Amino acid sequence: MFDTANFPNAKKIWHMGEILDWDDALVHSQSHALHYGTSVFEGIRAYSTARGPAVFRLDEHMDRFMHSAKVLKMQTPYTKTEIIDTIKLVVRENRLDSAYIRPLLFYAYGNLGLVPWASPVELFVSAWEWGAYLGKKSVNGVNVYILPWKRIHHSQIHMGAKLGGNYVQSTFCGMIAREKGFDEAVFLNLEGNVAEGPGENILIVKDGIVKTNDRTESILEGITRTTVLQIAEDLGMQTEVGPMTKEDLFDADEIMFTGTAVEVVPIIRIADGSVPGDPEKEYMVGDGLPGPVTKQLRSTYLETVNGKQPRYDGWLTYVNE
Ligand SMILES: Cc1ncc(COP(=O)(O)O)c(C=O)c1O
Repeated sequence: MFDTANFPNAKKIWHMGEILDWDDALVHSQSHALHYGTSVFEGIRAYSTARGPAVFRLDEHMDRFMHSAKVLKMQTPYTKTEIIDTIKLVVRENRLDSAYIRPLLFYAYGNLGLVPWASPVELFVSAWEWGAYLGKKSVNGVNVYILPWKRIHHSQIHMGAKLGGNYVQSTFCGMIAREKGFDEAVFLNLEGNVAEGPGENILIVKDGIVKTNDRTESILEGITRTTVLQIAEDLGMQTEVGPMTKEDLFDADEIMFTGTAVEVVPIIRIADGSVPGDPEKEYMVGDGLPGPVTKQLRSTYLETVNGKQPRYDGWLTYVNE
């Protein structure tokens, strides 16, 4: 019996054409992905709307999922369209009104040589109710820690694909930040510029301009990041994409995390632990409270995903229609 305390309202999981009970979604110990992180995944949300649950930017998530699978040279057992139908089915089967959705492709049981050609690729699709990723502070702002560990560089492996094994760095550094008493970590890249959080992009606001970085800075260019940039432009704000230095962070009027899991979360305090041996210095962002731009982008984003911004209705896939 698997405790679902951290997976509220999870009941069913889809595996290779079958709907399974939560407790039956098992794999063999010799599955390739369990040893080497040879999996790819997506993190997607569905939201409660007046027309029932709707998945936000499903098409874009599926394009990225198929891209990740291609990067890992997977023979995917299902097409994009089939996986989209499966995701809608899983939300319905679990009777969820809002959901976090996790499709997972992985090299399964077959061989344990590093090259997984003898291991078939299998797909799981699960869904449950996952609240605010950074908890109660998501509204009033979080404290972050700039890590001494630099983000894996885009010249070393694809950072625009969600490869399971790559996430060991996010896991490790997420633990370090929390052990030090912070809510989340921030990575610099090998160039010394700001990269991203373990599972979040970073946007800053300075003199009314909303700025973020791109793939050349060793980040995953998130779907939420791109959505929030578009919303900012549509609200008449000026946006800019380019490298962001650590000093840009310390000097920013506002900073926010974006991501499917976190949504849009203000960052209100930063500690710089990036230089090993140097004392950690702390900086307050603006006046230490969520700023007006962040608040406006956060509320418009939340209205958008909940189907309350008709101009963005095309970003929603209604599960019951
Ligand atoms: C490393 C990393 N950066 C950024 C993001 C934000 O991406 P998205 O907005 O597409 O969820 C994620 C989450 O998927 C991530 O894992």
